[in-house]
Amino acid sequence: MTDAAGRIILGIESTCDETGCALVAGGRDVLANVVATQFELHGRFGGVVPEIASRAHLESINAVIDEALARAGVEPDGIAAVAVANRPGLIGSLLTGLMAAKTLAWAWRRPLIGVNHIHAHAYSPALDDDPIDYPAVALVASGGHTSLYRCLGPAELELLGATTDDAAGEAFDKVASILALGYPGGPAIDQAARKGDPKAVKFPRALLKGQSLDFSFSGLKTAVLYHVRGVPGAVRPGAADKGPAAMSEQDVADVAASFQAALVDTLRIKLRRATKAVGARTLIIGGGVAANSALRRAVGALGKKLGIPVRMPAPAYCADNAAMTAGLAWHLLRAGRTDDLDLAATATVRK
Ligand code: KG4
Ligand code: ZN
Repeated sequence: MTDAAGRIILGIESTCDETGCALVAGGRDVLANVVATQFELHGRFGGVVPEIASRAHLESINAVIDEALARAGVEPDGIAAVAVANRPGLIGSLLTGLMAAKTLAWAWRRPLIGVNHIHAHAYSPALDDDPIDYPAVALVASGGHTSLYRCLGPAELELLGATTDDAAGEAFDKVASILALGYPGGPAIDQAARKGDPKAVKFPRALLKGQSLDFSFSGLKTAVLYHVRGVPGAVRPGAADKGPAAMSEQDVADVAASFQAALVDTLRIKLRRATKAVGARTLIIGGGVAANSALRRAVGALGKKLGIPVRMPAPAYCADNAAMTAGLAWHLLRAGRTDDLDLAATATVRK
């Protein structure tokens, strides 16, 4: 056994369309992080199809767990607990990971720990890195969620605000589809925007008035759609009146950059508002959208302006993965927050 024995948690992730298993020691040292992605299966539908996702989890979960154990070189007796992201997510997908975790916890006689997947995203910058200095404000922006938290510790999170309609990543995916840039849309928009002018089109920034910490992105998405279609009365009528096919590569890049600027502006403004309201010592971003280059730049600059450190996950820990689940579970285990084998999967949580 290694020094890490007794501190190693096996984590499982299956909330959406990635099947993951990871082994993490002491909440921080990632010994193995295996992710089987399904995006090729969902690409032709332009989004995740829940039935296809649950079937694919079932097909790959055992191989993913075996691969993680082999890569880490860890035997079951070296594992302290089994953690699983049991909320929120697609119910069929969640159930596959939850059943696998329960089976291992029962067979190995180890504690089972259910982890909130969004809280795990907020913890992800601590993986393979220094502990986070709390209190912090965390923005988790992914394909399914856009939430702002006040974090008093790794597992003490209070929800400050969330999206009232589309998630930020969903807006990226939908706008990429409008611009015929493919799926998943976030990386494609990020790439196209590099050659575009972020001031070319003035798209709306929603819910910026008052002190609201909630988000809304559906108006922004519709504004892009109207702009691309050239609907009369839209943001810039007639800019491209036959859809993306009639737009030049430069037009597409300009719309991508302008959309991205509007969305990143909204996230940055809310993050600043929350940081001031809470008196945070650290700024955290997490989730798939935390991979966005413009967001990383904007949040980096905000941290400098406010004089507080910014913690962003390494690229491998932005998208869904089990390392963040196993990492956060270490803190839950130490606090005695373990679960029974009747732990349920929960599709929606507002926490
Ligand atoms: O966290 P994640 O892997 O899964 C969910 O829990 O939803 O996030 C996936 C989302 C997708 O909507 C994807 O388009 C977006 O993250 N995304 C990005 C970038 N990379 C991934 N959005 C903007 N810019 C990126 N570079
Ligand atoms: Zn996620």
